[in-house]
This record gives sequence, C-alpha cells and structure tokens, in this order.
Amino acid sequence: MLVVALCLQALCFCFVATTPTPTSNHYQQYSNDSLLWGPYRPNLYLGIRARMREGLLAGLMWSNVDNAAQISKNLRHTCEQDEGMAGYGWTAYDPRTGGHEVIRDTGNKIDLSIDYVKDHHSSGDDWGLRVSGRLRDDAQRTQRTTAVFYIGHETLHDDFECGVSPSSNAEASCAGLLASKRFTLDIIPAMSANDMDSSPVIMNIQSLQVPRNTLWQAKSIFLNQLKAEAPRQTLLSSSPGRGNLHLIQLTFVGDFVFDVLFASGPRTDDYSSETLGSNIDYAAARFEDQFKRVYNPQSPFNVTQDYTTFSQSLLANLMGGIGYFHGTSKVSMDAKAEKSSLTSADAAVEDRGPYELFSAVPSRPFFPRGFLWDEGFHLQAVLDWDIELAMEMATSWLNLMDDDGWIAREQILGPEAASKVPPEFQTQYQLYANPPTMFMVVDMFLDRVLGDVPYDGRPSRFIQAIEHPGNASIPVEARAFLETIYWKLKRHYLWWRRTQAGNTERYQSRHQAMGMEYREGYRWRGRTAEHVLTSGLDDYPRVAAPSDDELHLDALCWVGLMSNTLRKISTALQLTSDPDFYALNTHSAEIAATADGIHWSDHEQAYCDATISPAGQVEHVCHKGYISLMPLLTGVLWNPMHTKLGPVLDLIEDPSHLWSPYGLRSLSTKDEYYGTGENYWRSPIWVNINYLVLVRLLELAKQRGPQQERCSRMYSKLRKNIVNTVYQSWKDTGFAWEQYNPDSGKGQRTQHFTGWTALVVRVMAMPDMEGQYIKPYPTADNAIQNPSATSGHGLLVTLTGVFILGMLFRRRIMQIWRNLMET
Ligand SMILES: *[C@@H]1O[C@H](CO)[C@@H](O)[C@H](O)[C@H]1NC(C)=O
Ligand SMILES: *[C@@H]1O[C@H](CO)[C@@H](O)[C@H](O)[C@H]1NC(C)=O
Ligand SMILES: *[C@@H]1O[C@H](CO)[C@@H](O)[C@H](O)[C@H]1NC(C)=O
Repeated sequence: MLVVALCLQALCFCFVATTPTPTSNHYQQYSNDSLLWGPYRPNLYLGIRARMREGLLAGLMWSNVDNAAQISKNLRHTCEQDEGMAGYGWTAYDPRTGGHEVIRDTGNKIDLSIDYVKDHHSSGDDWGLRVSGRLRDDAQRTQRTTAVFYIGHETLHDDFECGVSPSSNAEASCAGLLASKRFTLDIIPAMSANDMDSSPVIMNIQSLQVPRNTLWQAKSIFLNQLKAEAPRQTLLSSSPGRGNLHLIQLTFVGDFVFDVLFASGPRTDDYSSETLGSNIDYAAARFEDQFKRVYNPQSPFNVTQDYTTFSQSLLANLMGGIGYFHGTSKVSMDAKAEKSSLTSADAAVEDRGPYELFSAVPSRPFFPRGFLWDEGFHLQAVLDWDIELAMEMATSWLNLMDDDGWIAREQILGPEAASKVPPEFQTQYQLYANPPTMFMVVDMFLDRVLGDVPYDGRPSRFIQAIEHPGNASIPVEARAFLETIYWKLKRHYLWWRRTQAGNTERYQSRHQAMGMEYREGYRWRGRTAEHVLTSGLDDYPRVAAPSDDELHLDALCWVGLMSNTLRKISTALQLTSDPDFYALNTHSAEIAATADGIHWSDHEQAYCDATISPAGQVEHVCHKGYISLMPLLTGVLWNPMHTKLGPVLDLIEDPSHLWSPYGLRSLSTKDEYYGTGENYWRSPIWVNINYLVLVRLLELAKQRGPQQERCSRMYSKLRKNIVNTVYQSWKDTGFAWEQYNPDSGKGQRTQHFTGWTALVVRVMAMPDMEGQYIKPYPTADNAIQNPSATSGHGLLVTLTGVFILGMLFRRRIMQIWRNLMET
C-alpha cells in the first residue's frame, strides 16, 4: 500500500504533457440561426434585437394620450417596479420559436397581449410580432392609446429607410441592409379591431439620424421630438425617409391590433399576417408539448392546472429574460485594490472590451444584466429544456475569462446596462471571485451526455442514445465541446486557488501533532467588515474582525465543487494529457478532509468559518445557516455514511434553526445576527439554496444509508413548502420575488425576480417521494460509492484514495519509512 502511494505520488509530480489549445466550437454553427433574433433586451417590456454587435434593435413604447400633459409620465418602455403593473411577463416562451407576453397596465387602463414568434418555415431569421391592446374594465370606451414601435441600426448605413407602404397607405414599410443581407420590416395595423365607430388609426413615421450610442434612449428621443413640435403635442409630425432610427407611431381609439413582420430578404407574398397567425399557433403548441415532456409538475402539483400555468410562466420568464449585451466594462487593474479605498475617478480603472454576452438576467426591472453567480442557477433550468442553448450561454460566459482565469462577476456592458448601476458599483476587480456555479451546469451536462440522467428537451447532437450508460462513450460533438471548455474551466479553477488562497500555515501546528497536513484553505478577497459581496451571500455574518488569517468554509467548498467537476470530465474523456489528471482526484479528497479537519466544530456540531485568535489559537466562528450546509450542497460531503451528515440534517430540520413552514431560512433563529441590519441573507428564504438542498436530499433518499428514510421525509416536506411559498405569492401579487419572508412566506425585495426563483419549475418536476418504499437499512457498506465516480474506474478511485491518505499522513509515513531504513 505504502509503496503504491509513493509511486503514485511520484507519477503525479513527474507527469509531463502539453496542454492542447481549444478547438473551434463545432456546435455553434448549427445552434446559431434559430437564436439570432429574440427579445434580447430584457430590460424593456418588449425589446427585440439581433445577437450581433452591429445589429438592429427594436422596441415598443405606449401611453394613454387622453391627457397630453401626462404622456412623459405614462409612456412605458423599460420595465419598472413602480408603474402600477398588475403583472407582466411571458406566459409561454422558447428562444427558438417565440412566445406570448401579457402586460396588465392599470395606469394606462389597457392590457397588452404580445406574440413574438419566429417563422418556422425560415431558418429562424424571419420573425413577427402581434400586439393587441384591450381596454381594461375601468377605461373609457373611447380612450386613445398611442403605441410607438421603433427600430434602430447600430451601423451607419445611409440606405436604411422607412415610409408609407406602397401597397397600403395604412401600413409602414422599412428596408435596409443587415450584415450585407437585405431585410424588410412591415407594420400592419388590423383595421377590423376597431369595432366601434371611432376615428381610424393615425400613423406617423419619423426617421432620424442619431448618434448610435444613443439608440437605446429612444424614449427620451421620442419625447424630445414631441416637445420640439409644440407644447402638449402627442403626435409626431411625419417625416419618413432615411435614418438610423425610425419611430413609427400608431394612435388608436379603443382596442387595437397591429402586426410587425420582419423578413430577411425581400418579403414574399406568402409571408403575411396569416403566416404570422399560424406561427403563433405553432409556437404555442410546441411550448405546451415540450413542457409536458420536460417539466410537467409531478405529484402533488398535478392536482390542478394552476401549478402548470404557474410553472410555465416562471420558465417562460426565465427564458424571456435572456439578453444579448455588448460594450465595454470598467475594470480595476490594481490587483490589491479594495473597494473602500477607491473612487470611480481612480486612475487604475479602465474601460476594457468591448465584450459580448448572451445571458439570462435575475430580474428584468431591477437586475437586467448578467451575474455570474446567478447564471449557474439559471442554466440549470435551461439545460433540460434545451441543452445546446444552455451550453451556448455558458460558453458566452466562459469567453469573458481573461488570460489569468478571472471572470468579472457582474457584467455591466455598455451605456444602457450602466444606466441602471450607481457609478460606485460599476468597477470590477481582478482579484475578486464569485461562486463558480457554472461548474454545476457542466456537471449536469456531462450526466446527460453520458446517459446517466435522461434528457427529454430539444433534440441535440450532444445527446445520443447510449446503449450502455456509464461506459464512457461520448458523442463526438459533446466530446469536442467538453474538451474545449475543460481547459477554460481549469484555468478558472487554478486562478481561484491561487488568488483566494488562505494562510493555512498558521493552522498547521494543531494538526502536525497528529501527523496530518492540510494545505487547502481559502478566503474570499474583497470583503469589508459588513459584507462579503463576492461570496454571493452579501451580509451573512462572518468573522467579526476581518483578518488575513480567516478561512471561509464556502470558499473551500466551491473549490471542492470545481475539482469534482474537473475530475469527472477528465475521467470521462480520459484526458491523460492534462498534467493534473491524477492530482485532481486527490485534490477533491483533500478538500473533503480539510472541511472535516479545519472547519468542523465539535462543540457546535457544525461546519464553520475559522480564524486564528489573537492568542494564536485556531478558532471556529459559527453562524449556523446556509454556509453550514455548503459541504453538503457542493458535494464535498457526499458519502451517506459520513458521521457529520446527521448533525447537518439536524440543523436543516430544526425549526429553531433553519426549518420554517415556508422553506429554509438563511440563518438560524438562534444566531445573534438573525434578522438584523440589512437582513438580506440573515433570515429570508432564498430559492436557489432551497433548491440545492432538495437536490441533495433526493440523492440521499435514493442511496442506502443511516439517514436515508429521514432524507426522503425531509425532501417531501421541503419540496411542498418551498413550491407553495412561491406559488402563493405569485397568486397574490402576480409576481415571483427575490426572497421570501420566513415568518409570513410573503415575497419581498425585488419584484419580477424570475431568475433563480424559477428553479421551482425544476422542483415541481422532481419525483414525489411521499410514501415511497425505501429499502431497509442496514446493508453492506460496499454498496455505497461516490456518485461522481463512474463505474469502471473503481481501481483509480481506490488508488487515489490510498494516495490521498499518503498525502495527508505524509510526515508520519516518512517517519515510519525512516525508522524502517534505520533498523
Ligand atoms: C452566428 O451568427 C452571427 C450573426 O450572424 C455571426 O456573426 C456569427 O459569426 C455566427 N457564429 C457562428 C459560429 O456561426
Ligand atoms: C398525480 O400523480 C400521481 C403520481 O403519479 C398519480 O397517482 C395521481 O393520479 C395524479 N393525480 C392527478 C389528478 O392526475
Ligand atoms: C461501450 O459499450 C459498447 C457496447 O458494449 C461498446 O461497443 C463500446 O466500445 C463501449 N465503449 C467504451 C468506451 O468502452
């Protein structure tokens, strides 16, 4: 045994190989066309653009115009929390085909119903829009509403032109060039919608030439144009023609409908409002069909249609929040910079880029941009729906990584995104990390590619029927993709380990006596006394006096998650060309050993942060809550036989700690900081963490072990609690929320938070374990295997296990060895 360990160790250090350079993304080409267009400006109630740096962008604004003085107040454009919306969002939506959005605008006394769909006969680059306005019950039947559809071009061509259509003077028609291809765009009001004796539709077209970085300010441009004409004016004067921004204003009396048809190439007669109608039906049917296959709510959420409607709405809004962003980003070049000592005028801050990003957003009104920590959760819901879409988005994020391996955690690209962020929060620091949740997505991807987990979403070249799951036969496209991103993920992992490393030396004296050596230990950089924003759990209580000696449990666990995922990929692909191929295996285990060795407090019976006291002693700083669960949630604590599993479950299940009838609280009610200060992560219920707990409980409920039955019971209860909390608030308010109150279950903070709160879609589709027969325990211990180790690699696992012991007990082994040699 000993000799094997030493040999392996030597092998590991001497293994030399070259790192292959990433190959081109095969999969991208065939994934591209159907994702070219979309409502990719999620900060707007309706904002459409092409996923191109120099593209077209379009948007919709509307207002009641009976009171001309109020138009600047009533004109809707960007999603806002304070405009008196009685709910808005997509009821069905798939980025490949389109969907249906409903907007209940109480202030303007009108409900809008919008279909945005691709033409399924074309390759996806033709699309159409049907906008229907219906007066609300409290509106005057003769109410006048104006709708402004605008389209801007980010390249300065002088041949982009709009005017009254040659075929009908009630229609507008535009034409121009996009990526050297001709396009047409027609706006067609449906006259028959006005079934009352009212004045006909008034159409005004104004074509303007504006600086291209102001296109996103179409609302103020429109209002300024009105003001320039005459006071209390609500109608633009018509001046159609050439320009890079065209405002097409339609003014209606009563209910209305109009269509917008976009065609790449000249529009032919067979692309009409009727085609649009059939595309709308097609998109709706496809969404229903795919939803049934992928996310049909399981018992007990199958009792009413209501849960299905709820689930579809959350899923549609998550995907309807996918945006395309481009522009520069503010980066501090000062590696040592801490936020408190910087001003926005700091010389070390520079504009980097331009970059582009294809990402979902946490909340359309409040966080309409990319967040790294959130995205790894968003993509878990997207993945089973459309695995190629999820990987396209993950790739977009990984492409933002710099040569060192750093990714800015918040992506504020371009002036439109920056307009929603106070200047002091715009700068990104190259030393700051964020939870690497993207690794969870890649892990799930691998499970599906290997056939270990079934995939029923949009058919994909990544997925092929595998006759013998687990024997590591991977479809060619998936292999090429994984090989490409593996090296990027690894660069990020190495960066993380280097930059967030903790001072572990001072912890050694305590363990050296036992012949143990822990070299792992991490500390979030960029913390202040009150916040560790980088950890994602902003105000969660930590060591009271920040110090270079503290070690953060969650940081360690995230590194564990990264190494587990890398190990899984490199094993599946047999990437022996990676010089760290063997070291990765041992690293996972070293992390697990460190969690138990340094972060476990016997006294508190919990995993905790650690620090060195002024007297030089190792001290546990325990604030029981989400952080205490991290070893379980990241798979660092994976073994159902693990002795610490019981105490972790106790913490979850105890109502005086985390358990509430509405889901798991972020902090124990017994903690001195419970519910204090900003109270952001100090009591409220967050869906992302509740989701991770459920995923792990379900895994444990399916594996033999002393806690199996208990996990199954907790899983069933928690699943019902968290789903019903989100559901009830949605019924009451029309919205999903950022977090939920642990005493009332009510949604709070950011409204329309259809980012990770939408994970309840997955939770509803998870199996009901209520009353499931569970095989009685005890059984043979050898039935238990690390779930992340694929079968057929048992020997490797055993050998590396031995190797790890060798590493941990290196000193003792060397001592025995020397003793042996001396005698
Ligand atoms: C995807 O489409 C965009 C827009 O047409 C284009 O710029 C890009 O090169 C395409 N990517 C691939 C991989 O085909
Ligand atoms: C809900 O699902 C359960 C379990 O699959 C099934 O037994 C039950 O009949 C379903 N209920 C309804 C109303 O479909
Ligand atoms: C997987 O199993 C099939 C059927 O036995 C076999 O043909 C194939 O070679 C196996 N693949 C690997 C990588 O072992």
